[in-house]
Amino acid sequence: MNERLYPYFNQLLHLSDAVIITDERHHICLVNESYERITGYHAAEVIGKRAGLLRTGLTPKQTYEHMYAALHNAQPWSGVFTNRKRCGQLWHSSITITPYVVEGETYYVGVFRELEQLDRGYYLDENRVGNLQGSLLKVLAISCEIRDPGIENHLIRVQRLTELLVERYDELFQLGLDPTYMMRVVNGSILHDIGKSAIPEGILYKPGSLAPYERTIIEMHPHIGVDILDKIYGELDDELFEHEFSVAKNIILHHHERWDGSGYPLRLKEEEIPLEARIVSVVDVYDALTTKRPYKEKWSQKAAIELLVEQKGRQFDSDVVDALVTLYESGLLD
Ligand SMILES: [Fe+2]
Ligand SMILES: [Fe+2]
Repeated sequence: MNERLYPYFNQLLHLSDAVIITDERHHICLVNESYERITGYHAAEVIGKRAGLLRTGLTPKQTYEHMYAALHNAQPWSGVFTNRKRCGQLWHSSITITPYVVEGETYYVGVFRELEQLDRGYYLDENRVGNLQGSLLKVLAISCEIRDPGIENHLIRVQRLTELLVERYDELFQLGLDPTYMMRVVNGSILHDIGKSAIPEGILYKPGSLAPYERTIIEMHPHIGVDILDKIYGELDDELFEHEFSVAKNIILHHHERWDGSGYPLRLKEEEIPLEARIVSVVDVYDALTTKRPYKEKWSQKAAIELLVEQKGRQFDSDVVDALVTLYESGLLD
């Protein structure tokens, strides 16, 4: 049936912008080569599917409402969409949709112009946003923990290892995690202990064992960390950080929860604990064990891995530990 439409739309399909033609119910009838090149989807994969296939939550709801209202009244509509390409990357485009009547049926012709081609300064590309977010979070993490001289290196190692681990975990269990989500986990990992900035030094660095009230104070650091992040978010007041911060918050609040429910602060267990926190808790412990601290010697990688394996299903999510073990076995932890 789509070949039947070619004579009517052939000219439009030759535009160098991405072009998509849908039927009245917004099912895709035709796409052009530019659309295939930009989105990474072949025509054969998308034809017959809903045009909302590439949608993200980043395009405001009102945009769609305005679009549907205009098209419903047989009016053309223009606006800006943030869609997702096949590879997971975002694609910002200015789109014009025009209703066409062919053989008594209405079709919608959408022409997308990529906004990524605008000059820097007019448009914040995803990499630049990611870098800005990453640097801001790093500065924040380091300044919160400035009292601990070794902290910057610990934070950087935690971040690197989180990146390796989240990617390996995704591969190993073939989860197809969203790359943007994985980037947020990596960026957020650096913030896990920002709440420690409010813990008195005498307790934080006390050699030997802690009194019960001291332990209670230390265990407040996840909640304090979330308060700090909330204050900063209130100041920034920019939706660019909304999703970024929600992942970071889960890491801050839950990185001391344990798989068996015996952790703190909320005693969550198993998959109640957000994945990002399950990953960072494994990384944090592994790095603490394999680093020399004033009060402890450095453990070998092998000994640290053995401890994590022993804690599978108790302190840690077994799958996350298994993913770390494969990194160890392939020599990627050196
Ligand atoms: Fe912590
Ligand atoms: Fe840590």
